[in-house]
Amino acid sequence: MGHAVKITVLMENTAGGRGTRSEHGLAYWIEHDGRHLLFDTGQSDLLLHNAARFQLDLQQLDAVVLSHGHYDHTGGLMHVLERAQKPDLYVHPSAFGRKYSRHDNGTLVDVGMPQREIQPITDRVENLVWTCQPTHVHNALHVTGFVPRRHDDEDVGGRFFTDAQGEEPDPLWDDQAIYFDTEAGVVVVLGCAHAGVVNTMDYVAQLTGRPIFAVIGGMHLLAASETRLDATVDAMRRHDVQRLAPAHCTGIRATARLWTTFPDRCMPCAVGSTFTFE
Ligand SMILES: [Fe+2]
Ligand SMILES: [Fe+2]
Repeated sequence: MGHAVKITVLMENTAGGRGTRSEHGLAYWIEHDGRHLLFDTGQSDLLLHNAARFQLDLQQLDAVVLSHGHYDHTGGLMHVLERAQKPDLYVHPSAFGRKYSRHDNGTLVDVGMPQREIQPITDRVENLVWTCQPTHVHNALHVTGFVPRRHDDEDVGGRFFTDAQGEEPDPLWDDQAIYFDTEAGVVVVLGCAHAGVVNTMDYVAQLTGRPIFAVIGGMHLLAASETRLDATVDAMRRHDVQRLAPAHCTGIRATARLWTTFPDRCMPCAVGSTFTFE
């Protein structure tokens, strides 16, 4: 190994420093062995502001990985591609499908990628890599592809559909996480974890045969039952996860629970937070 991985949180729901801006969304800038990777893109062009603020040069971007097709992770992609030099794109094919969410008042809202942007997006990338299965991105960096759903109490975390009538539930097969090995163990970086954070941890542990050192990102526990929260905490104990950075769609209740249960292991994750792993 011997190559440090540095993660800068480029977009998150909370601004974490002077001159930074935030929106409901997530994007990470990942530097590894001279390569530059973007994992998700936030929901708008706002990540460009933060990139400039952190002096991160999108021209250096080698690859973009999308965790899933929801707007708050993909909406910045065209803005990035207009400024980058044809990076590769790693994405599960279902991310390009239609996606809707049912609000409390019953209305369905389009939460997917604008269909008209899909062709321009694929035109602007060097290689389009479909990630149905675990896929190598660069050196130690991998993306899980489809995450097997093994725990019954982990649902996708919301009322998501693939049609505007709300008849076809969206299983979010596109949901995937990034992982890489370090001397201390594997680091897992989540988008929204619609596949379930426990399913994702278990799968990465199975794929790598290594202990999980850190879990960073959105855990989508906003609507999770107490039973599910208990099971999530139990799984983090079982994996003996040393560093936890719940963010984005984890939700205040679950975030508070994790910080209370693992006070010495939790780390803030806001715009401008950085994580370095050897
Ligand atoms: Fe999502
Ligand atoms: Fe999200």
